[in-house]
Amino acid sequence: MKQDMIVILDLGSTENTTIARQIRDLGVYSEIHPHDITPDELKALDNVKGIVINGGENRIVDGVAIDVNPAIYDCGYPIIAIDHEPAKCEKKYADMPSEADIKSFLFDTCKAEANWNMKNFIDDQVEIIRRQVGDKKVLLALSGGVDSSVVAALLIKAIGKQLVCVHVNHGLMRKNESESVVEIFRNKLDANLVYVDATDRFLGKLEGVADPEEKRKIIGGEFIRVFEEEARKLEGIDFLGQGTIYPDIIESGTKTAKCVKSHHNVGGLPEDLQFALVEPLAQLFKDEVRACGVELGLPAEMVYRQPFPGPGLGVRCLGAITRERLEALRESDAILRDEFAKAGLDKTVWQYFTVVPDFKAVGVRDNARSMGYMCVIRAVNTIDAMTATIERIDYDILEKIADRITAEVPSINRVVYEITKKPVATIEFE
Ligand code: XMP
Repeated sequence: MKQDMIVILDLGSTENTTIARQIRDLGVYSEIHPHDITPDELKALDNVKGIVINGGENRIVDGVAIDVNPAIYDCGYPIIAIDHEPAKCEKKYADMPSEADIKSFLFDTCKAEANWNMKNFIDDQVEIIRRQVGDKKVLLALSGGVDSSVVAALLIKAIGKQLVCVHVNHGLMRKNESESVVEIFRNKLDANLVYVDATDRFLGKLEGVADPEEKRKIIGGEFIRVFEEEARKLEGIDFLGQGTIYPDIIESGTKTAKCVKSHHNVGGLPEDLQFALVEPLAQLFKDEVRACGVELGLPAEMVYRQPFPGPGLGVRCLGAITRERLEALRESDAILRDEFAKAGLDKTVWQYFTVVPDFKAVGVRDNARSMGYMCVIRAVNTIDAMTATIERIDYDILEKIADRITAEVPSINRVVYEITKKPVATIEFE
């Protein structure tokens, strides 16, 4: 390992991630580990320079007081303790230490080097992945989202063609999205990429299905079946790569933190398809994942891509999906994104997209009455997607978008702007 590390022992405090972030922002790599880590496990981590024990108010878990393994006090690592009473430590703090205190702990006491950067992270991970995988093969579901793209690029750097990427186009991707996955990964990064155009299969299963939950279930279930079929065709795969990132792990709950929501991965695969996992981004926060992608040479559109739901345009083509309406949705969404980019809004707005409901309204086209679809613009800002506010888009920009959509998408004759917060609305419509 090239990077010095500070270990935070997890006694259930919600501040642990803030401290980890603060230490990383000061240039020193930091990881959170279970409170009962043993001295041998600590030594095996390589390059540990110091330990932070953060007691917090959650030290009682399920009625039982938890504590660190006392043997770690005799390992010789400098330790600071926050809101906790350890046997031996450099310093105790009743509250969160100041940045100056943390700096002094890192650089004066632990003599850590500020060598946490993406280049070193990538070098370390390449070495770790090569050691883990050896000459075996790794399979990866490459959706084209930020996490799966970055993990693919990292695995390609580490093991090249031993990585087999499978990109399933469910026909619900945005305009040119699958094409750009093929262009970047197969043509630019020379990846071993299996591209599956499953559009007809997905749209066939979805035909006439109007219930949002049913649609989601069909899309999710079918995705796993297609991926599984591809996996069975491939010989000698021992590992499954995953773009698990640190917030996924925190949300799934640790020994001392409650589960917020289960972490979804390709976990629906049948039990006879058993793989060991390769998860090289598991310690990174989202912005660090993006920085890693940039360092690996991925294009900005891919790395700074706005969130996109797994069921894709399927949950924005409201009710029973038809090809005509899906096309209207895809084209209007592309126009919206283009105009947002021209106005610089793509850099500031968290998520923006169009929605096409399943009814027609009256309009006038070529001096004649005509029925057309309505297109809804949604543009929201949020920190955590649990609540969201609307973006106050300039009227001139809105009008330009409406003019372009109605001119370039013949089946749409109305454009409206949605102005509801979450709650009471959700961000998506289905
Ligand atoms: P809602 O509609 O619940 O959306 O306010 C919150 C955020 O989650 C995204 N979203 C999904 N992401 N799979 C995903 O990966 C899904 O099934 C899914 N549904 C919603 C949504 O785009 C928004 O960013």
